[in-house]
Amino acid sequence: MKIISRVEELRALIHELKLQGKSVGLVPTMGYLHEGHLSLIREAKAQQDVVVASIFVNPLQFGANEDFAVYPRDLERDSQLAADAGLDIIFAPSVEEMYPQGFENMITFVDLIHITDKLCGAARPGHFRGVATVVTKLFNLVCPDAAYFGQKDAQQVIVIKRMVVDLNMNINIVTVPIVREADGLAMSSRNVYLSPEQRQAALVLNQSLRKAAALLDNGERDCTKLKQAIEQMIGAEPLADIEYIAICDTSTLENLAKIENKALIALAVKFGNTRLIDNIIWEG
Ligand code: PAJ
Repeated sequence: MKIISRVEELRALIHELKLQGKSVGLVPTMGYLHEGHLSLIREAKAQQDVVVASIFVNPLQFGANEDFAVYPRDLERDSQLAADAGLDIIFAPSVEEMYPQGFENMITFVDLIHITDKLCGAARPGHFRGVATVVTKLFNLVCPDAAYFGQKDAQQVIVIKRMVVDLNMNINIVTVPIVREADGLAMSSRNVYLSPEQRQAALVLNQSLRKAAALLDNGERDCTKLKQAIEQMIGAEPLADIEYIAICDTSTLENLAKIENKALIALAVKFGNTRLIDNIIWEG
C-alpha cells in the first residue's frame, strides 16, 4: 500500500493507473478508521481495480466551536488497518497541501441549498458547504469511477448524490450500510470521546430507532406519534440531550406528517460535548 501526501504525486499515480485502464474507487474519510470505514474500503475493493482512501480532517467543514483541533488522528494505526483491508493507496495531505491559499481564504465553494438547511445542517451552518467542497476537490484529484459513502451520515450521502447529478460529475456514488458495535451503537470516530456512562447511555439512539421501526411495522404511520415515542425514550436517559429527531422524505429531507411507504428517521443527540448521529430508512 502506498501512502501519498502530495497532490502532484497523487495526480501522477492516477494518470498512470488510468493509462493502464484501471478502474478507480475513492473512499473519503477523516481517518481514525473503524469497521465502518473498512467496510467502505472492502466494498470498493470488491468493485474496482484500485482503491484510494483519503484521510483528511477537513477544517472547512468544522464550526468555530467544534472539535477540529481535538479530532482523533493516528495515521500509523490507520495505515495498518487499511492495508489489512486491502487498500491500495492512502492520500493523507496536510491542510496546507489541500488549501494552499489557506482554508480561511477560500473564495470558491460548492454550496447546495434547501437540503443542507435541515437536520445536521440546521445546527452546523456551513458544514455541508465544507463537505461538498472538499469532496469535489477529492473527486477532481482522484477522478474516481465510483466513490463510497456510509449510510451512517444519511444527509451527507443525499447531498453528495444530488451534487453529482446537478454538476454532471461522472462518478457512481455507492452507499454502504451502517456498521454497528455488537450492542447496536453505530461506529464513529467520535465514540472515543464518550465516558463509560455516556457510552452506555448512547445505546438509546439505536434502541429508539428500533422502537420506531417496530411501531411502524405494527401499523403506526403518524409521524407526531412516532416522534413522541422516540422523544420519550431518549428523554428518559438523563445523559442524553436531543438536538433533533427527524422523520422525513429520503431524498428531499422534507418533514413528513404521515408515512406512506418509505421514510428516513434520523437523530442527533448530545452526550456531554459529544454529538452522535444515527438513522434508519424504514420501508413498508
Ligand atoms: P468520516 O466521518 O471519517 O466518515 C468517512 C465515511 O465513513 C463516511 O462516508 C461515513 O458515512 C462512513 N462511516 C462512518 N461511520 C460509519 C459506520 N458506522 N458505518 C458505515 N459507514 C460509516 O464523513 C466524513 O468523514 C467526511 O465528512 C468526509 C466525507 C470524509 C469529507 O470530509
